[in-house]
Amino acid sequence: MTANATSLTTAFERMTAEVDALFDILLASPADTRARLYDAMRHAAVGGGKRLRPLLLVSVAEMLGVDRAAAVRAGGAVEAIHVYSLIHDDLPAMDDDDLRRGKPTVHKAFDEATAVLAGDSLHALAFEILADEQVHSDPAIRMELVRILAEASGPSGMAGGQMMDLEADKGGYDLPTVTRLQQLKTGALIGASVEMGAVLGRASDDMHVALRGYARDIGLAFQIADDLIDVEGDEEKAGKALRKDGEQGKETFVSLLGIDRAREQAHILSEQAVRHLRSFGAEADILRALARFTVERDR
Ligand code: IPE
Ligand code: IPE
Ligand code: MG
Ligand code: MG
Ligand code: MG
Repeated sequence: MTANATSLTTAFERMTAEVDALFDILLASPADTRARLYDAMRHAAVGGGKRLRPLLLVSVAEMLGVDRAAAVRAGGAVEAIHVYSLIHDDLPAMDDDDLRRGKPTVHKAFDEATAVLAGDSLHALAFEILADEQVHSDPAIRMELVRILAEASGPSGMAGGQMMDLEADKGGYDLPTVTRLQQLKTGALIGASVEMGAVLGRASDDMHVALRGYARDIGLAFQIADDLIDVEGDEEKAGKALRKDGEQGKETFVSLLGIDRAREQAHILSEQAVRHLRSFGAEADILRALARFTVERDR
């Protein structure tokens, strides 16, 4: 492994331990019949997942001199939304999946009603975390974080992209439409992670522009990689069922462009993302490594 790859691995490990510790504290089971809900939330939120979104947020924030513990909490908020989106994405009414992060999905390990409530509760938890002054002492900054994450989660972001995805099997989606779908479904939360790090670090307007360009490119590249993993990946490594998109008639970059051109496009986007960081020095190396990781990953 190169020095960069080794430090990225270390960064992921540290982030994973911090996010697990945060959810461990926030999701302590109460001694009443709500325990099942907390257990379901913990099942999904603790011990699994790459934690890419928190790592993006924390890396941008730390680059701008933000206290790490505060950034980790904000990263936990984005991850809570992401985990909720996965619980609902796996439900029989959506993708109907039995395996997630190498474990049974929440509706399999518990039941569908509990999975709906666990998703709802993680959604609410995200904003509870951001409203707390441990994230930032300035309420205006906290409000801005709430606004960014709310917009990225709702109909103009992730949920809107999921709706477009559900309609994708009806056909008629061209490349610009699939690009828009992916930008909303996956790109919005990745973009919010970078943006929230920039807001916490009170980035200048120029930095915001550069980081937004970076996030847009890796967001798209990340979802192309997800679609490639679905077609040619290893289920053991991915920790989820694969070969589903074709089976469910989903229109993706891979279905429209074919494997080779989709991979080429992902690499072009990753290189373009790195170019957006040209005004930053070595302090942005982790972001550069993350741009490469998004397309080279196998899980
Ligand atoms: C999977 O996201 C769902 C998509 C948005 C493509 P990740 O690939 O980040 O999943 P985890 O968090 O590592 O499980
Ligand atoms: C889901 O996309 C994106 C979300 C908003 C959860 P996919 O349906 O492609 O994600 P996987 O492949 O199940 O992880
Ligand atoms: Mg889906
Ligand atoms: Mg899915
Ligand atoms: Mg997928």
